[in-house]
Amino acid sequence: MKRTRKVMEIVDPGEWVALREDDGRAYLLQKTPGEVKIKGLGRFDAAQLLDGYSIGDRIIVGQKSLTIVKPTLVEARRNMSRRAQVIGIKDSGFLISWMGIGIGSRILEGGHGSAGLAMHLASVMGEKGILISVESRPEHAIVGKENMERLREILPEFPDWYLFEGDFRDSRDTIMNICDSMDAAIIDIAEPWEIVPIVEEYLRPGGKLACYCPTTIQLEKSWEAIEECGMIVEWAGEMIERKWTKASKGGVRPGNTPIGHTAFLIMGAKISRDDEE
Ligand SMILES: C[S@@+](CC[C@H](N)C(=O)[O-])C[C@H]1O[C@@H](n2cnc3c(N)ncnc32)[C@H](O)[C@@H]1O
Repeated sequence: MKRTRKVMEIVDPGEWVALREDDGRAYLLQKTPGEVKIKGLGRFDAAQLLDGYSIGDRIIVGQKSLTIVKPTLVEARRNMSRRAQVIGIKDSGFLISWMGIGIGSRILEGGHGSAGLAMHLASVMGEKGILISVESRPEHAIVGKENMERLREILPEFPDWYLFEGDFRDSRDTIMNICDSMDAAIIDIAEPWEIVPIVEEYLRPGGKLACYCPTTIQLEKSWEAIEECGMIVEWAGEMIERKWTKASKGGVRPGNTPIGHTAFLIMGAKISRDDEE
């Protein structure tokens, strides 16, 4: 059978690439002239380094042999700066699928922190989506914004994203001016139950609300708050991940380092309470 030759995609000036180690570690790099310092790789001129290389090529940088790949959310996450504790892949993926978040969704999140969750949200919402993030601590907002702006350059589409720097309780006018009805909201702050009633107001009928609760007390209080404002709890619990490895003497088996507890998740839906006359 005749094998067709792969068309090589030369890395364009200004393009972002990821240099991937075989174990999955990756470094994000933009092909622009001038010296850059990339943690783990060293200092170099990225335009000179990538000159003549294509996506899929192998490249040597210092002592490392790397594959040049198109960056995605995965590489952006591995390279993100972190300040506050982030929501990881395990919980982000579940929340997104369970809450029906996708192209064109209108989503509210508080707090934004380092944008761990927001990066996952942005990657599935497309350019028609609206994402409103609220963050009360300026030093966290800076890190989150940096991570989101880099992701914006990497993804083919990015939602209409707003970052409100302030307390969620003071964000009503700002949120309503952008979008008066949201499809879903995810709360990841220490006292989620305090803002559940505020968030409920923004949701459309059928809209979903989730709280990310590291402790059982947070879960219980959020549960009560969701029910007190007339919403229905649709799912509460935790996602448990168990990774398998290849054993040294053959066979595959569960690994020795499972991901422990991250948080309990609780998801509710807004329903209509008015019966037809
Ligand atoms: C655990 S972090 C959020 C992490 C984020 N979900 C992620 O995946 O990267 C919690 C954030 O909520 C912020 N926060 C706490 N109370 C808040 C409030 N009332 N309004 C807005 N942000 C708040 C904190 O400053 C902190 O950055």
